[in-house]
Amino acid sequence: MTPEEFRQYGHAVVDWIADYRARVQTLPVMAKTAPGEVKAQLPKSPPESPESFDAILADLDRIVVPGLSLWQHPLFFGYFPANSSLASVLGDYVSTGLGVLGLAWQSSPALTEVEEVATDWLRQMVSLSAAWSGVIQDTASTSTLVALLTARERTTGYCLARGGLQAEARPLVVYVSAHSHSSVDKAALLAGFGRENIRHVAHDAAYAMRPDALDAAIQADAAAGKAPCAVVATTGTTTTTAIDPLAAIAAVAQRHGVWMHVDAAMAGSAMILPECRSMWEGIEGADSIVFNPHKWLGAAFDCSTYFVRDPEHLVRVMSTNPSYLQSSADGQVKNYRDWGLPLGRRFRALKLWFLIREQGVSGLQARLRRDLDNARWLAEQVRAAQDWRVLAPVPLQTICLRHEPAGLSGEALDRHTQAWVERLNRSGLTYLTPAVLDGRWMVRVSIGAEATERTHVERLWAAMQAEVLKDARP
Ligand SMILES: Cc1ncc(COP(=O)(O)O)c(C=O)c1O
Repeated sequence: MTPEEFRQYGHAVVDWIADYRARVQTLPVMAKTAPGEVKAQLPKSPPESPESFDAILADLDRIVVPGLSLWQHPLFFGYFPANSSLASVLGDYVSTGLGVLGLAWQSSPALTEVEEVATDWLRQMVSLSAAWSGVIQDTASTSTLVALLTARERTTGYCLARGGLQAEARPLVVYVSAHSHSSVDKAALLAGFGRENIRHVAHDAAYAMRPDALDAAIQADAAAGKAPCAVVATTGTTTTTAIDPLAAIAAVAQRHGVWMHVDAAMAGSAMILPECRSMWEGIEGADSIVFNPHKWLGAAFDCSTYFVRDPEHLVRVMSTNPSYLQSSADGQVKNYRDWGLPLGRRFRALKLWFLIREQGVSGLQARLRRDLDNARWLAEQVRAAQDWRVLAPVPLQTICLRHEPAGLSGEALDRHTQAWVERLNRSGLTYLTPAVLDGRWMVRVSIGAEATERTHVERLWAAMQAEVLKDARP
């Protein structure tokens, strides 16, 4: 494709995306695709001869879009939001169009320095002190893996330079809660801690980690000859958006010399609002934080920011520094390859930089406040309605709810919950994710797609109320 052809088809692609965003609300939210249905429409082998670009675009409409659940739809209330603001989409295009790689500062100086600035803007936006330095990783899963690798190396005094974990006399232990995201357990397993050395610390009635139980678990492990290594606290757990008490957890972590990582993948966005920052009290006592601007804030996936207090330690763990990557500028610059796992890095900062500049902090704050207000409104409706229950505190934008008609309990209640949510999702009107809380199925309504206004939340509430009535009563 020549630059001139690119101009022509690039305009067509931008038009296609603009049209898609304009009409997305007319499409079914959840894909009704059967397994294998998309593959069955595609040739098994690659085309021998070039195809026209128009044919490729036509297949987007014919095959791809009908095979997608639509995260940018205003009636998408599943998982957590993954807002892909259009300004950020353009930043992502530019990144790909430039086609540069950040192997070292020298390989693309602006890639590094825009990332330094954009992550520092974000640091200021969420009111972290200047003691923190940020880097962009792909996902929270990677950021948390990096956190646990660096925790492991701090506890062992850099075992990687000797016999690694295999030569350690004492098993290292990681503390999480039953409500930590699955990526935390995965990171602990991949970092070599072993399942036997992951402790699931008890939580309170609001699903937040109990610092007294953490303290007791650490003491018991130390007494048994193990090496307490790291605790992962969550601000905004995935099931209920519970807020672990950071200040108390930090005090325990510091007392025992344990690394504290905070997973604020979702709720980090809310920290741009001064009125939400009490949820982050004690954050300065942490060693590392992950916060995903690719969730609620609006940076196109993937864009996960990882903040550390001690970048030297991070670099010492991550650096391999082969000679072909060294340059005379190394003493004065950041080489982000030493701040994470991959060597080659995309220019991800552009999509964050475009987003923050195009929206301004006040624009982003206004949208998040709208969503919090919508969540409060829905929680009030549900609490006031007969036979409906809000099952967990609603500190942010997710409401955990259940329809509990008289006479239904246990597995019969589970069947009712799963049936009405499945019908509603299959209808194409909306997309909700059911989940298990305290051993019973319930429904999460996660508000915060960029296009979601109050009218959409009202439509959802009306649809849920109508749907539950369709079940035959016991
Ligand atoms: C609290 C929390 N942590 C981590 C993750 C994983 O995020 P990622 O997909 O960026 O790895 C999620 C995903 O929803 C999450 O809710």
